[in-house]
Amino acid sequence: MRPVDPQIAWTPHTVELNREEFAKRLHEALTVYVTAMDYPRGTEFHRAPMWTEHSTRPGWKAVGALAGPESGSPAVESLVGIAYGYHGSSDQWWHQQVLHGLHRSGRPQSEISAILDDYFELTELHVHPNGQGHRLGESLIRHLLHDRSERSVLLSTPEVFDEDNRAWRLYRRLGFQDVLRRFRFSGDSRPFAVLGRGLPL
Ligand SMILES: CC(C)(COP(=O)(O)OP(=O)(O)OC[C@H]1O[C@@H](n2cnc3c(N)ncnc32)[C@H](O)[C@@H]1OP(=O)(O)O)[C@@H](O)C(=O)NCCC(=O)NCCS
Repeated sequence: MRPVDPQIAWTPHTVELNREEFAKRLHEALTVYVTAMDYPRGTEFHRAPMWTEHSTRPGWKAVGALAGPESGSPAVESLVGIAYGYHGSSDQWWHQQVLHGLHRSGRPQSEISAILDDYFELTELHVHPNGQGHRLGESLIRHLLHDRSERSVLLSTPEVFDEDNRAWRLYRRLGFQDVLRRFRFSGDSRPFAVLGRGLPL
């Protein structure tokens, strides 16, 4: 498996990855994820089974950003960005957590239903640090959400002071609005925001 090129000298382009291509690129995708999030090495091994299981969920779609000396030749291109998600549903842990949070926030049932009835969960979005700040994140989201049939898209992202990081700036620029703030998922002490917007983008 080729590593992510630390010196991205080529202009990346985004492509949809089917399940087989995603499985082939899983190690590369997890390397981008661990590097972008600055997680300890080894995290990727814990995440591999979860990302693989996610790829079997209804409505799953993945998009990768590839860069290499021969644009359009996947065999010689490295993965420098990854985004995926799937159709949200009530049997999923994330859905149940957000539902609980919405109930606790005192929202009326009609509003909760409108938020959770028909959405695409944008589960992962990561760009290798050497490729960030060039609208690749935006291209990945636009490609991922293109032609989705759901009414809305939801995601969760860690709270940061003043919304001062690339993820927050990107989501705000694309019109994502607050669904829940300072929300704590079970088993994670960090506060998260749940953001969403209507589709199409
Ligand atoms: C979040 C992430 C995927 C965004 O990818 P990206 O390619 O850096 O995103 P974009 O270039 O589309 O947009 C983000 C930044 O570019 C800026 N930007 C890009 N083009 C711009 C333009 N033409 N005009 C103004 N701003 C622009 C954005 O405002 C934003 O802010 P910053 O560079 O000043 O910090 C990426 O930064 C990342 O992987 N971060 C670490 C992991 C992470 O946080 N993942 C999300 C977890 S929920």
